[in-house]
Amino acid sequence: MAEHVPPAEHPAYPVGLRLAGRRVVVIGGGQVAQRRLPALVAAGADVTLISPSATPSVEAMAESGEITWTRRRYQDGDIADAWYALVATSDPDANNRASEEAERTKTWCVRSDDADAATAWTPATGRSDGVTVAVLTGRDPRRSAAVRDAIVEGLRDGTLAAPHHRSRAPFVALVGGGPGDPDLITVRGRRLLAEADVVIADRLGPRDLLDELPPHVEVIDAAKIPYGRFMAQEAINNALIEHAKAGKAVVRLKGGDPYVFGRGMEEAQALAEAGIPCTVVPGISSSISVPSAAGIPVTHRGVAHEFTVVSGHVAPDDPRSLVDWKSLARLRGTLVILMGVDKIGAIAQALVAHGKAPDTPLALVQEGTTAAQRRVDATLATVAETVKAQDVRPPAVIVIGDVVTVGPHK
Ligand SMILES: C[S@@+](CC[C@H](N)C(=O)[O-])C[C@H]1O[C@@H](n2cnc3c(N)ncnc32)[C@H](O)[C@@H]1O
Repeated sequence: MAEHVPPAEHPAYPVGLRLAGRRVVVIGGGQVAQRRLPALVAAGADVTLISPSATPSVEAMAESGEITWTRRRYQDGDIADAWYALVATSDPDANNRASEEAERTKTWCVRSDDADAATAWTPATGRSDGVTVAVLTGRDPRRSAAVRDAIVEGLRDGTLAAPHHRSRAPFVALVGGGPGDPDLITVRGRRLLAEADVVIADRLGPRDLLDELPPHVEVIDAAKIPYGRFMAQEAINNALIEHAKAGKAVVRLKGGDPYVFGRGMEEAQALAEAGIPCTVVPGISSSISVPSAAGIPVTHRGVAHEFTVVSGHVAPDDPRSLVDWKSLARLRGTLVILMGVDKIGAIAQALVAHGKAPDTPLALVQEGTTAAQRRVDATLATVAETVKAQDVRPPAVIVIGDVVTVGPHK
């Protein structure tokens, strides 16, 4: 049947097959099938696998009903009625017979063992934000994969500009930027940032990323929005709404996660009231990542089975405090305090007064994950003095508990 195969120098003709509900036959249940089946299933194909055996993950797909598995070797007639076939057994004779049948029945057929004998080639594929990338380089699958990786990575991190050209409705993304290191924003956050017309940013978070934005992007410092008769937060909400109503793609870039002491929900509510769709992109919260960057696990087997994240922005005896310090003093696990540098003396005193041991270890991690990161260790008894003596300043995450001393970095 080789006379039907086009000479290799002709480039393949790329096409996107819409396989939903259409019969696809896969012959052979080994590693090749394992790699290709998820995409066929994701495309909605009605997949029949023909193979006497299968790898455990292929078997699991059959058990869950994602594919139909006929447990035997290939027989003539198996490819009949299929729109597309993948031939990948370890038996060259079966592969030849199956691809000959595909040729006769005019079924596009991929062969794992002989690209020349195949009538279709599988491109290296990847997806990002609704874009499917498919790369064919003829005989060099590694090069295809490398080109695919470069394009997908560029789309994901926004370095490959691919703006949407469909008319855009007003849009706001509340993006959690992570604790400060620009590498610690999510892939989605970075892509949305690259698509923004307006970015309203906090002081905390990955500020270095703002320098990379193209000059047409308007960057607004949230702390500097004049608020006149409004509260500062209301002024930020209004700015989000106004820019979105002007048809701009607006990113509200926040430190850490938008919903961890970030007032993200207040912004989401204000946008919902104004009828503006908003998407929230979770971020890596400083409450976990900053201790981690300083060598402190918030849990450790045999040491802490829980960690509690608390705001320390008001003192324990302040009537506005919603924190039950007495209960916290009784917990055996880790306490993580955000916004607590100014009040740590009073907080440590309250914890000791409610029964926590004065020699409980504690660490303050200032400007975690940035070039200026600094860790200062103390105990509940010494922390007030240490903070003063070492001039520890916000932003810092304070970790209280035995996990502070488990790492090699003390
Ligand atoms: C208003 S809260 C916002 C928290 C943020 N939404 C999050 O999930 O990380 C600000 C506090 O987070 C902590 N923080 C945020 N980024 C930090 C960093 N890079 N280093 C140390 N502490 C940080 C500090 O305790 C700071 O006072």
